[in-house]
Amino acid sequence: MTSRPAKKKPARKTTAAKKTSKKKAVKASPETNHKGQLYASLVVQLLSLLKGEHDFIANAANFSALLFNSLPNVNWAGFYFLQGDELVLGPFQGNPACVRIPLGQGVCGVAAQQLETIIVPNVHEFPGHIACDVASNSEIVVPLFDGERLLGVLDLDSPLIGRFDDQDAEGLNELTTVFVAHEERLGP
Ligand code: SME
Repeated sequence: MTSRPAKKKPARKTTAAKKTSKKKAVKASPETNHKGQLYASLVVQLLSLLKGEHDFIANAANFSALLFNSLPNVNWAGFYFLQGDELVLGPFQGNPACVRIPLGQGVCGVAAQQLETIIVPNVHEFPGHIACDVASNSEIVVPLFDGERLLGVLDLDSPLIGRFDDQDAEGLNELTTVFVAHEERLGP
């Protein structure tokens, strides 16, 4: 994992225990095809949920419910929004979670500070991981941007080791882009 200045233009890249590249060829297997189709379907479903509604919290709540109920082997899905120099819990599905995460702490705080998607195959090997649900074994955190401004992060946990891969990062990044682009009122 590399560090980068917080003010640097956000780059939509992914950091993992192993660093990944967007140019890396995705092996075309039935599993990857299925995952690609699932995310394509989720984009359509998210657009349908957002249609005609611009309440940010309501839309974030439905977005988290869509992910939680559609993605297999996910035990937590939701948002943390940036307030000052910490992340504050937003709409989510799953067990109650810690409310405030300082930038740079936990997977969420590191993703927010580094402005990068982070895939953690095994949360027990991530220094400083914040355990909100003992069932969680892997995690992916995707930063949300309004242009170049960080709004917060989308966080998904799984009970499976190695549940999330580059296809999840790509699919979730597309979904968050669709979500943020839809919002007309994002607050200060
Ligand atoms: N595990 C996260 C904390 C949030 S919960 O997973 C919902 C982290 O280390 O930042």
